[in-house]
Amino acid sequence: MNNTKIKQSAEFDKLADNYTDLRNEGAGFFVKYADTFSSYKVKHFSNIIQNRTEQNRTEQNRTEQNRTEQNRTEQNNINILEFGCGIGLNVPYFKNFFPNAKIHGCDISSESIQLAQQQYPDCKFDVVNTTAELQIYAQQIDAIFINGVFHHIPFDEHKSWLEALHSIMKPGSQIVIFENNPHNPLMKDYFKNCPLDINATMVQPDYLRKLVKSIWNNAKRTYTFFTPWQDSAFWFALEKCINFWLPLGAQYYVRARK
Ligand SMILES: C[S@@+](CC[C@H](N)C(=O)[O-])C[C@H]1O[C@@H](n2cnc3c(N)ncnc32)[C@H](O)[C@@H]1O
Repeated sequence: MNNTKIKQSAEFDKLADNYTDLRNEGAGFFVKYADTFSSYKVKHFSNIIQNRTEQNRTEQNRTEQNRTEQNRTEQNNINILEFGCGIGLNVPYFKNFFPNAKIHGCDISSESIQLAQQQYPDCKFDVVNTTAELQIYAQQIDAIFINGVFHHIPFDEHKSWLEALHSIMKPGSQIVIFENNPHNPLMKDYFKNCPLDINATMVQPDYLRKLVKSIWNNAKRTYTFFTPWQDSAFWFALEKCINFWLPLGAQYYVRARK
């Protein structure tokens, strides 16, 4: 393990016990939406994954009905990996939106992984310190969810972590990476003051999209969380009209398919 990795894991090992309080510090008015935001992130992720599986189903329907049945069973048993899962705050939402999926989480912080495993013994959590260690998931993973992790990884390591993630994905599987949007003034302010982000650097949306595209050959960047009211049909419809070009959502995600 090199020095940088020792520094990163030690940082979140110390923060794990108070993670939720530290995350909420500086969120001001938006603190009451913190859990709602997490839930909506997993909902967006689920919509992306389900659309893909719907597409699979349609394609298969055209050719072979019994293969569609097999595909449906596979959907129920998909393996989801949250890379950089921390203490497992997103797990309840995975269980809600993917009730039959097998949920895996990994992180470089062993303290965080221990807390996550205690809280959710039915899921599988692993400490992963190096890109090589990610190979424990080789060819097992149907979908990868990442939230707020790349701004903690040194920029010169981004490509190698993404390449390692690409290598463990099954063909046809998808990766969705959520990051805080540096173009949103409120998010920029929160990021500057959040104790979790003292050693972090915001990741530019186009930088991440291009990097992902260089590995997956396809990548889409979408701005999201223009408002906290993601369950309002009005705001949701409005967001759909502007989310590709107006860089003002509190977060953005980059997604790609293998
Ligand atoms: C801001 S927290 C986000 C936790 C979780 N994704 C969530 O949404 O609650 C960032 C996490 O990324 C982890 N992390 C940083 N670098 C990592 C790396 N190279 N591999 C795996 N996890 C990493 C940290 O240990 C920390 O748990």
